[in-house]
Amino acid sequence: MDNKIIGSASLNSVSLKDKEKHRGVIGLSILKEYWGLAIGNILFSTIIELGKEAQYKQLELQVVSNNTSAISLYKKYNFIKYGENPKAFLNRENKYQSIDYMRLEIE
Ligand SMILES: CC(C)(COP(=O)(O)OP(=O)(O)OC[C@H]1O[C@@H](n2cnc3c(N)ncnc32)[C@H](O)[C@@H]1OP(=O)(O)O)[C@@H](O)C(=O)NCCC(=O)NCCS
Repeated sequence: MDNKIIGSASLNSVSLKDKEKHRGVIGLSILKEYWGLAIGNILFSTIIELGKEAQYKQLELQVVSNNTSAISLYKKYNFIKYGENPKAFLNRENKYQSIDYMRLEIE
């Protein structure tokens, strides 16, 4: 083992304002050479459990609309799409990339 970091998962408050602090935002990424090894499942289920422990009422994330692997992972854990921004990113080829907004109600 070479002790390298192969993935990360983050969970942050949308905001510290009283009216928004029930909302947590998740970020997730794994190095490509380690995809398909169930690491995504482990990290994502763990971050949801941490979100419950932290007493968030809703977890949220954004994902590029054509990222079918990630969307499949999020749906597996009952996240639902609630919106889409078709012109969220403008890439170097001057093409727009769409973003899906997903959420999970914890209670
Ligand atoms: C999305 C990502 C986190 C998945 O991680 P992973 O370790 O490969 O995922 P796992 O092997 O644990 O698989 C978890 C689920 O992801 C989905 N999935 C993974 N690979 C897939 C593929 N090739 N096709 C379709 N779905 C796939 C499935 O729902 C799978 O569930 P299953 O195990 O019951 O089949 C990983 O591909 C990644 O880091 N991608 C780049 C960054 C990224 O897209 N981050 C998310 C942006 S918000």
